[in-house]
Amino acid sequence: MRILIVGGGGREHAIIKKLRENKDVTEIFALPGNGGIAKDAKCVTIGATDIEAVVKFAVDNQIDYAVVAPDDPLVLGCVDALEEKGIPCFGPKKNAAIIEGSKVFSKNLMKKYGIPTAEYEVFNDIDKALAYLDSAPIPTVIKADGLALGKGVIIANTIEEAKKAVTEIMQDKKFGKSGDQIVIEEFLTGPEVSVLSFTDGETIVPMVSSMDHKRALDNDMGLNTGGMGTVAPNPYYTKEIADECMQKIFLPTIDAMNKEGRTFKGCLYFGLMLTEKGPKVIEYNCRFGDPETQVVLPLLESDLLTVMQATTNGTLKETEVKFSSKNACCVVVASKGYPVSYEKGYEITISPEIENNVYVAGAVQKDRKLLTSGGRVLGVTAVEEDLETAIKSAYEKVDKVHFDNAFYRHDIGKRALEAKGEN
Ligand code: AMP
Ligand code: GLY
Repeated sequence: MRILIVGGGGREHAIIKKLRENKDVTEIFALPGNGGIAKDAKCVTIGATDIEAVVKFAVDNQIDYAVVAPDDPLVLGCVDALEEKGIPCFGPKKNAAIIEGSKVFSKNLMKKYGIPTAEYEVFNDIDKALAYLDSAPIPTVIKADGLALGKGVIIANTIEEAKKAVTEIMQDKKFGKSGDQIVIEEFLTGPEVSVLSFTDGETIVPMVSSMDHKRALDNDMGLNTGGMGTVAPNPYYTKEIADECMQKIFLPTIDAMNKEGRTFKGCLYFGLMLTEKGPKVIEYNCRFGDPETQVVLPLLESDLLTVMQATTNGTLKETEVKFSSKNACCVVVASKGYPVSYEKGYEITISPEIENNVYVAGAVQKDRKLLTSGGRVLGVTAVEEDLETAIKSAYEKVDKVHFDNAFYRHDIGKRALEAKGEN
């Protein structure tokens, strides 16, 4: 089988490495992929959002199955365009990807179908939003409606900060049209859990839970990033909470999307907060998380391609989806200055014995060398029997990766270990 992956980060590298385990997979193409992915797939310089070029490539190269991994091509309708040409895909169609593409849509969906989430108001008029803030409880959370490269959520600790954020989004158009509407919502507290799931629109199978570490620096200091590391499973996510989420959140969401005529197929990601009043949805993503995928997929024991195809064909109910009971830890190694500004072009060296544990996110190949080209450069994952050993092993492996100006958090998994101690 000839497989196409749209995207080019650490998440895509993890998907590709897992797909390669299937003996029927003869060739994998990545659009655009990256310099590190090039070891495991043929990378072609076609941008993930250049839908027309992606479709042309898929047709010209007789692709049997396509995996559309990032949010933007999904929201733009990449799956619809590929399926129109008869190419089966993993991922939701445009009308379902809106669950991530519009926060106003997802909040209204949850309200309509009684799915627990933070209280909120929607604004498309800046004056009304600013007036509302005068009496809003602080901290308050401001969210741009559309995609904003993961930067569209601002937690404001004062009314002035909140007003500044609203002005930047709605007036200065910091995120372009994504800020035409905003959501202002209640600030929730509690441990966060990421739950990725496979769904064919009828059956939903949650994957092993995980914990992201979003802030750039140790002890959750510094700016929000795309994610600096992950562990799986997430010890806060007990069997009781998982059952409650299935009944109150996962099944109702699948049902709600069907009732709206927006059947969701692919990977539906639930960003949850375990509040004192029970689990609530912080966000939906219409795709695998990054770097959650780098700890979740290494724990998948079933064949990924078979499971993916089952979501496309509507046969997930009859398909085995089995996860190992081991623990995984991924430490992201970034370029100094990320997520604001950083230098590129430093040579990366990776010891051969850990190559299988490395998922490359931002690198290019030049003159047979691998050079940094992104903020998040790579992730190093270890899988071990217990969490403590997985963390230790991941950090030992990180020592075997080098590039100038590298930095990483030293406390990935620390909170999870503490939570385990409390259980
Ligand atoms: P998102 O970009 O939607 O993943 O949000 C980024 C982060 O902002 C989340 O992971 C949470 O830590 C935080 N966040 C989002 N919404 C809320 C909320 N209503 N209350 C508290 N924290 C939030
Ligand atoms: N790690 C969070 C995300 O993928 O959105």
